[in-house]
Parts: sequence; C-alpha cells; structure tokens
Amino acid sequence: MREQKRDAVVSATKFLPFHQALIEEDDIAAVVNVLKSGWLTTGTRTKEFERAFAAYVGASHAVALSSCTAALHLALAAIGLKEGDEVILPTMTFSSTGEVVLYFKARPVLVDCEPDSFQAAPAAIERAITPRTRAIIAVHYAGCPTRIDAILEMARLHNLKVIEDAAHALPARYIGKMVGGFGDITCFSFYATKTLTTGEGGMATTENPEYADRMRMLSLHGISRDAYKRYTAEGSWRYEILDLGYKYNMTDIQAGLGIAQLAKCDAMREKREQLAEYYTSALASTDAFTTPRVPLDMQHAWHLYVLQVNPEVISISRDRIIEELKQRGIGCSVHFIPLHTHPFYQHSLGYRMGQFPHAEHHFETAISFPLFPRMTFEDSNHVVDALQALAREYRR
Ligand SMILES: Cc1ncc(COP(=O)(O)O)c(C=O)c1O
Repeated sequence: MREQKRDAVVSATKFLPFHQALIEEDDIAAVVNVLKSGWLTTGTRTKEFERAFAAYVGASHAVALSSCTAALHLALAAIGLKEGDEVILPTMTFSSTGEVVLYFKARPVLVDCEPDSFQAAPAAIERAITPRTRAIIAVHYAGCPTRIDAILEMARLHNLKVIEDAAHALPARYIGKMVGGFGDITCFSFYATKTLTTGEGGMATTENPEYADRMRMLSLHGISRDAYKRYTAEGSWRYEILDLGYKYNMTDIQAGLGIAQLAKCDAMREKREQLAEYYTSALASTDAFTTPRVPLDMQHAWHLYVLQVNPEVISISRDRIIEELKQRGIGCSVHFIPLHTHPFYQHSLGYRMGQFPHAEHHFETAISFPLFPRMTFEDSNHVVDALQALAREYRR
C-alpha cells in the first residue's frame, strides 16, 4: 500500500467522504486480466478466491456469492429453516440480517444490546429462546467480535444453529482465532464500503461440507454440482435442477478483485487500526464523546469507528453534529437504525418503540466516522479538530 504518499483526501477533494475504496494498480490489473481472459462469470478465479479466503480465515469451506445477504439467506436454507421457526438476532443490525429470516416465513426474534456496547446481550438472547427457536444470528457489530463463546454454549445447550453475520468482521479475531469458523456458517460482505470490496459480493464459510455443497448448489439455480463448468472443456451441457435455487453466484470479475484485495487485507486493517487509535487518543481529553472500547481478547477489524455523543455534556444533538460536520467537509453515517423502530417491523411483526432501550439509546447517540486506508492522519486530524470545536461551542 502506498497510502503514506497520498494527498490527504480532504485537502485533495475538499470533502472527506465516509468511505473510499482502496483500489490500486494490482486491483485494476487483476480485473483487467479477467476481462482479457474471455470468461467473466463464475469460473477458475472464483474457485481460487474461495480457496484463498478459506485459508485466510482458517475455514474448511468457502462459498463465494453475490452478497452477504445472499450468504445469510443460503445459510438459513442450508440449516433447513422452516416456516414458523424463530431465529434470534440483534435489533442493532442492518436490514439483511432480519429480512432473510422472513424469506422463509420464519420469525426474526429481536433482542437488545448490552448497556455499554452495541453487541447483542447474551442474557437477552437466552431469554428469547423458545421451543420454536432454530437458530441465532450473531452479528459482529462494527467488526469487533461479539461474545461468540457464550452464544455457542447457549446454542449447544438448546440444540440451536449459529449463523455469524460477519459483514463487518474481516479480519477479526476472538481469543486469537479468526472470525470465520466459530458458528455453523459465517457470512462476510464485500459491499463497496466494506473492509475488502468486490463492489458487491459475499462469502459463506463453514466446517460442514454438506452445508457448503447445498449453498453452492442453491446459489446457481439449484442445478447439480459444478454447474458453473457447463460451458468448459471439463463440463457438460446437461444439467439437472435438484431444488428451488437462486441466482447468487459470484463473477470472476468480482473474484479477481477479491483475490487482489485479500492480499492486502492485513495491511488495510493495520492502517484502519492506526487511524482508530489516533481518533481515540486525540478525543481522550474530552468527556463530550465516548470512544469505542476493544476488549483485550479481541482483535477488531475496524470496519466502523463508532463514537457516542454524551448529551449530559453537550447540548447539540447527534443529528446536528452530523450536519455541522458535513458543513465542514466531513461525511459521517449512523449504524444502525434498530430494526424494531422501522415501520415494516412495527406493522408486520408488532415491534414497538421503547422495547429495546439500550439499542435505542445507542442509536440516538451514535456517529460512524470516516475510517478507510486511503485516509491520511491529516484527514483524521481534521475530523478531531471539528469535533473538539463543536464540543467547546456546545458545552453545557
Ligand atoms: C451487519 C450487516 N449484515 C449484512 C449486510 C449485508 O451485506 P451485503 O450488502 O453484502 O448483502 C450488511 C451490509 O451493510 C451489514 O452491515
């Protein structure tokens, strides 16, 4: 990576966006090579990406897909989720985690966060278990591993499956082990803003060969094994549709980019960690904001840097801060608007405001700041200066 020599994004563009992907000459060459090869969709590059990814996270099988949403959907299909089943998941997540449960006419059972973190509270998960519960979807919020050992233990006691939503958690470690092989199936995202991008894309990893085969088959119309080879010298035009499938395969164009990105995944995390540590140390002197804590036994992927505003200390609202920062050329975001506060979840599933107070409080006070390897320390300094100026101006 050559980010040290880059111009600060903010001085170069006058606006520091929430995210910019790190696309270098090797990424471009990898995509051009696929374009020149004459074969653009699922093929040898996709298989190579699957092997490299599985080795990287330490999983036995990896299935490359069109998105993390597709991976979550196929993970639930692989474990045999049925109509009327219940799946426990945090309300503090993106729409994908809940909607995939509804594809099966099963029920997403939402749970609150811990009081002092954005992760689902293990005690709340335990209380939500009923005889209809089939699975828990554990979300590694922001890229910091959730307490997956507690969740796995609960699942073992109640005979439940664990799907990990690791859309944010590449690369992340829990007690020294990479996220990617704790639960029954782990789902990663390569969306445009993620820590490794293929534009759109996803990966499901598992130790279970039957789950891997089933996800692979369902990802390409439910067609028999190796359907992707049907136009090659090794393949055959004849195929059988074995089940109701989907069009969720990854293309070789995406995989080419994914392979190039994977080679710098550690270096990109290191740069994000340095930027995150800079934010945290530079903001340590003000009590207007609470900076993210990383438990000692976890390695954070630093997909998101989420700060919380302390309303007892400053009189400006979270929304106004985001507006003020935008005026100063800084793009921010909010992760997440809890699922139970959305009209769809209230009208169709009966959730209501006030039901998950920790998640609501976290949502009201959270701001996600720019955190990407192309940023310079000058850029992060610009963010810190703007925040400190607001903290001084609006101190109660
Ligand atoms: C927690 C979480 N899960 C799942 C997804 C879905 O990922 P994708 O866009 O690859 O489907 C996202 C995307 O932002 C996410 O934040």
